[in-house]
Amino acid sequence: MAILEVKDLKAYYITHRYGRTTSVKAVDGVSFKVEKDEIYGIAGESGCGKSTLLKAISGLVKPPLQILEGGVTYNFDGERLNILALNDEKQRRKLRGARLSLVPQGSMSVLNPVRRVRKSFEDVLYAHFDLSEQEFEDVVRKHLDALGLDWTVMHTYPHQLSGGMRQRITIALSTILKPDIIFADEPTTALDVVVQRGVVQLIKKIKEEQQNTLVLVTHDLSIHANLCDRLAVMYAGKIVEEGEVDRIFSTPKHPYTIMLLNSLPKLGDSSPRSSAPGAPPSLVNPPSGCRFHPRCPYVMERCRTESPDLIEMGNGHRVACFLEEGSK
Ligand SMILES: Nc1ncnc2c1ncn2[C@@H]1O[C@H](COP(=O)(O)OP(=O)(O)OP(=O)(O)O)[C@@H](O)[C@H]1O
Ligand SMILES: [Mg+2]
Repeated sequence: MAILEVKDLKAYYITHRYGRTTSVKAVDGVSFKVEKDEIYGIAGESGCGKSTLLKAISGLVKPPLQILEGGVTYNFDGERLNILALNDEKQRRKLRGARLSLVPQGSMSVLNPVRRVRKSFEDVLYAHFDLSEQEFEDVVRKHLDALGLDWTVMHTYPHQLSGGMRQRITIALSTILKPDIIFADEPTTALDVVVQRGVVQLIKKIKEEQQNTLVLVTHDLSIHANLCDRLAVMYAGKIVEEGEVDRIFSTPKHPYTIMLLNSLPKLGDSSPRSSAPGAPPSLVNPPSGCRFHPRCPYVMERCRTESPDLIEMGNGHRVACFLEEGSK
């Protein structure tokens, strides 16, 4: 059963300056479903719209970001609701935290830098529950214990903590209300490899304990390979390929996915790796047709004018490429 269904979502940053309107088409017609209890990964180069997509689907939309069209429907135990149709920020805030939780990119943005960590936990818990001080301490202690974190962190200021510890606390804070679905945006970026492993373990632990669904955004494909059930690859505001992680790693279909995978190091292979040639396009004036066509080694005439839709290749593997149309 799908817990989240995103349909034809368009979210642009629209600014008006010096009499000119500029639209950054960061999410431009995205559709996918997330099944209950799965770990769904979203990959793609910097600037392709991953964080914008998470903001839009968790209802954190404020100017200059605007939703132009589309639907974002959650199904919480049979209760269906379209978060984009909720006009009241209070209702949306209640939903976040309790039902869904976003661990945003950059741990400093969640914890208040001038207040002790405890204060951030108080803000979250007291916004949802009427708790006594003792009850507050019991709830937080239990959660921190389960995650292997020490209560003493509550007395520290964010800047006194290492990057890895700050990220663990951000994750603990974002999951204290046991949300049904967690969106984690680059939770391991900017951490060294050993600390990254610890954070990945922590995420796994929470998921096992709370039995929630996880949407994991990172440009680090090795994290996807280790953690995710299914993967979506984004390019310039669109999903270009989606499917089971093993299938995408073993038989990638989209030339962009192939390019990304070829840039990964391989065990025992000392030949030089091909880095992704060219650069991601501007999202203000994206290329016509298939957005990947200027970088694509297999570009055909129609790719310059027509935009390919995602087509089902079997077993839930979907690819947006004209090369695959004939081979379906
Ligand atoms: N507040 C904003 N105003 C205008 N454009 C923005 C704003 N925030 C992001 N963008 C643009 O939207 C596009 C998508 O950005 P987004 O942050 O979603 O990418 P991303 O895939 O998360 O990248 P990264 O991997 O670097 O985190 C980029 O072109 C970015 O420059
Ligand atoms: Mg981002």
